[in-house]
Amino acid sequence: SDAALLSGKRVVITAGPTREAIDPVRYLTNHSSGKMGYALADQAARMGADVTLISGPVTLPTPTNVTRINVTSAREMAQAAEKSALRADLFIGAAAVADYHVANAETQKHKKQSGQTGWTLQLAENPDIIARIARHEQRPGIVVGFAAETADVVHYAQDKLQRKNLDWIVANDVSRSDIGFNSDDNQVVVFGRDGQQFDLPQQSKSQLAGALLALFMKD
Ligand code: PMT
Repeated sequence: SDAALLSGKRVVITAGPTREAIDPVRYLTNHSSGKMGYALADQAARMGADVTLISGPVTLPTPTNVTRINVTSAREMAQAAEKSALRADLFIGAAAVADYHVANAETQKHKKQSGQTGWTLQLAENPDIIARIARHEQRPGIVVGFAAETADVVHYAQDKLQRKNLDWIVANDVSRSDIGFNSDDNQVVVFGRDGQQFDLPQQSKSQLAGALLALFMKD
């Protein structure tokens, strides 16, 4: 049984979207619900791990026996991850992190000027959280990324695996509405740094989380 597979292991997981402020009432975000990352946190705790879940803004309840840290922006998520993930046994980046923040964000609510027909937002790069963690001197034992793709899934996933120095990447096709963002199910292809490839059929995110954790710990 996998019941005690993660006993004594420290696992850190990011989940959900990030929000990038435009002004105090507006923001940029994406469709992540947090379900995939929360399912991983729940299953890891059931397998006996000491689990920290770094969560963007979602409406899900905290899984039993999981320590949750709430964050809003990608830069906050990066800080929280660097505090808790170093030297962990396993780090999983399931969050859909915004690649950019609004460089010209305003501290007061933006007022539409009369006659104004446009508004230009300037975007600046966010830190790549998982790449920083995977290149750190105190790198966790195993670092796993997700790849949200809409086309050329295999090609882009392999590229992220190498570029971000990951052990595993879990690729999902987010152009489908029955899997990926916000659905209860997911279907993934997992690539390992040594060329391994595993196709996991469509199943609930909860079942899939158990299968993924078993794969990362056993292979
Ligand atoms: O939350 P759900 O509704 O359940 O949906 C699940 C999901 C589709 C969000 C999830 O399965 C998923 O694919 N998560 C990763 C989404 C994503 O942002 O992928 P990416 O290809 O942009 O990023 C690749 C990897 O780098 C990810 O592990 C991501 O967490 C990480 N990353 C990306 C950008 C950044 N600045 N920092 C990061 O750490």
